[in-house]
Amino acid sequence: MTLDWLKPAERLSSLPPYVFARLDELKANARAQGVDLIDLGMGNPGGPTPAPVVEAAIAAIRDENNHGYPPFEGTASFRKTITDWYYRRYGVTLDPDGEALPLMGSKEGLGHLAMAYINPGDVVLVPTPAYPAHFRGPAIAGADIHTIPLKAENNWVIDFNDIPKESAERAKVLYFNYPNNPTGAVAPREFFEEMVAFGQKHQILLIHDLCYAELAFDGYQPTSLLEIPGAKEISVEFHTLSKTYHMAGWRVGFVVGNRHVIQGLRTLKTNLDYGIFSALQQAAEAALQLPDEYLTEVQARYRTRRDFLIEEMATLGWRIDKPLAAMYLWVACPPGMTASDFALLLLQKTGVVVTPGTAFGAGGEGYVRISLIEDCDRLKEAVDRLRQANIRYDSPSVES
Ligand SMILES: Cc1ncc(COP(=O)(O)O)c(C=O)c1O
Repeated sequence: MTLDWLKPAERLSSLPPYVFARLDELKANARAQGVDLIDLGMGNPGGPTPAPVVEAAIAAIRDENNHGYPPFEGTASFRKTITDWYYRRYGVTLDPDGEALPLMGSKEGLGHLAMAYINPGDVVLVPTPAYPAHFRGPAIAGADIHTIPLKAENNWVIDFNDIPKESAERAKVLYFNYPNNPTGAVAPREFFEEMVAFGQKHQILLIHDLCYAELAFDGYQPTSLLEIPGAKEISVEFHTLSKTYHMAGWRVGFVVGNRHVIQGLRTLKTNLDYGIFSALQQAAEAALQLPDEYLTEVQARYRTRRDFLIEEMATLGWRIDKPLAAMYLWVACPPGMTASDFALLLLQKTGVVVTPGTAFGAGGEGYVRISLIEDCDRLKEAVDRLRQANIRYDSPSVES
């Protein structure tokens, strides 16, 4: 029986398909035809969750005190671990009772924050390209989204001159993210200072996504927005354990910052979920308490892959900027090709999966994102397949 009479809510039908879900379909078809895919499409970190975290989880699951509903605002112990971690990393003091809230992954919080603070028609500023939750969350809330173009000539850092005065005056919320997904760009501390001044001047809630807080290389140390004096009055910052600690499937993240904003998000979530399984919160504490040697190891793994793939791609004519953080290469399509044509060509001719830049908004046209989630042997195999298919940056034979 078809449900012709049952129309989804407008907020759902106005959403285009999530590109990663569409990619999954194409991948499933290719796999069904026996193709050995090299999947560099998702930001799903390769490698196991660190053993001390897994051990902590097993012990915590055995403890029946963890088997009931968790507290709405997360366990006091996890909140304290978050604020201790924050102080250790950034020298910023936060109140664990009100300025930190555990989340079932940061994506959940990014989306729900939009539901908590954005009314239909409210103006929201979002860079393009951007991580999809930064514009899909506001879109579901009915926002009037004004995009801010990120440009190669600005190293993909927002230029405040690109925000029309009228948009700045009407905006209620601004989402941003450095180190950046998908471009791998980082922003200097002065940029964060300018951002706080901009938010204060125009009374805009700043939402910073510091998902790649610890995946940085070559001595670069990402900036937390909350390090900037005055930031806490107008902003919140999102973090995740998915990437650094290889815990993407565990669904643990958190938000820190302005207590009123966090209280609003908490009120909404109180009506929607019960938060993270307490045992996983205990395991997440173990992750945030891992010694720095663990981080050095993870960073070295991504840096090695980054350098390797940049060199290999250079043999095919690509000149790719070395990102100082995150886990992606942002790669220009061969001249004349769109992002989705190029991604499709790679999938069909080589079985290599990359994400078309347009998955991150119109500003991602002309680029694809390659995730550094496979080891060097597999990356080499991917480049060899491109070579065999004569896919080069400047190859005239690259046609879809
Ligand atoms: C910028 C950014 N924010 C948030 C997320 C989602 O993280 P989580 O697993 O905590 O939901 C991702 C995942 O790729 C991301 O790239």
